[in-house]
Amino acid sequence: MTAPDESFKFSRTGAVSKNRAVLAAMTNKQSNVDGTLSEDEINWLLRRADGGFGIVTTAASHVTASGQGWEGEMGVWGDHHIDGLTRLADEIRKRDALSLAQIFHGGMRAPEEITGVQPISASENPCSEAECGHSREATQEEIEDLISSFGDAAARCAQAGFDGVELHGAHGYLICQFLGELTNRREDKWGGDIESRSRFLLRILEDVRLKVPEDFLIGVRISPEYTKIGVRIDDSLALSEKLVESGIDFLHISCWDCFRPPSEFPEDSRMLTEWFSQRIGGAIPIISTGAIWSTSDAQAVMGHGADLVGVARAAVGHADWASHVHNPEYEPEGPPFTPQHLREQGLSNTFVEYMRNWKGFVE
Ligand SMILES: Cc1cc2nc3c(=O)[nH]c(=O)nc-3n(C[C@H](O)[C@H](O)[C@H](O)COP(=O)(O)O)c2cc1C
Repeated sequence: MTAPDESFKFSRTGAVSKNRAVLAAMTNKQSNVDGTLSEDEINWLLRRADGGFGIVTTAASHVTASGQGWEGEMGVWGDHHIDGLTRLADEIRKRDALSLAQIFHGGMRAPEEITGVQPISASENPCSEAECGHSREATQEEIEDLISSFGDAAARCAQAGFDGVELHGAHGYLICQFLGELTNRREDKWGGDIESRSRFLLRILEDVRLKVPEDFLIGVRISPEYTKIGVRIDDSLALSEKLVESGIDFLHISCWDCFRPPSEFPEDSRMLTEWFSQRIGGAIPIISTGAIWSTSDAQAVMGHGADLVGVARAAVGHADWASHVHNPEYEPEGPPFTPQHLREQGLSNTFVEYMRNWKGFVE
């Protein structure tokens, strides 16, 4: 069986990751008010590149100013972001890692308090953040503009020297709101069955492809299930086949816990990743993320059919997590971590405080 320390080549572009360890996207609240990268944010990511990750993904970064979901969020919506992005991409490359920018729009989860405008979504939906009321349904013209903003943002990332982008279609943000049957109740071509609800994402992919160079990686992250807005496993599997047809370079499934079956099939012996690898394995690379803490966890998820594994919280606590993937016995210490330990791992005080939202993570 392939081991987590073996290299991986993306067949279309030829890009090579030196191992199977992907630093999964993590919001860290460290960006400047205008969305430009701060020294703290660059430092946090470069420490993980130094720490051996084959692929380093940025935090979710908004493609339009009105798509910002929270304070301290990284932006890719304007040319003023390009200098910082260029520095980050250059420095990641010097460390022999591939760089991915995760691009997104908050949709109904982009609060008016932050953006100054009423959030938009596929349909009128209550915002999950209590303070932002209701989103309104995006018009046809706004949908076309949004699609174009994703393409423009990807072009900026390419210009800055990133190796690729990951479209954030998971966790209930705008793309996910189009995919969810509860948040997308449109009766036009953008709503209906999963084929129509996928149209927004598929059109974004087309726009991105037109605006970036041939050798730029284009991947998609989805939630296999996000039941509170109506994203269900069977639809996500059907979507994954559509994404294969569209020619993306990888599919990243955000499982939160890779060691469980879909919630709709609790008795099934197949873990989430296996559902996808049985359907599309071999057709495109699968990255799977969620509750991977040790090398043996990573190996197990690769055994489920993942080509690469995403690591988030373990990499917050251990900047050099990926430099241990050659060691099958590696099992780093778990939380709680002291603030001092986290600062030693390259987190600023802002990020340490943010990590307190994860119960039991910070001592
Ligand atoms: C602090 C923090 C911030 C996160 N921010 C993002 C994000 O910006 N985009 C995203 O797709 N997932 C985000 N996630 C989810 C992670 O990428 C990952 O899927 C999740 O933490 C499960 O993996 P883990 O068990 O290795 O932590 C975040 C997770 C954490 C802990």
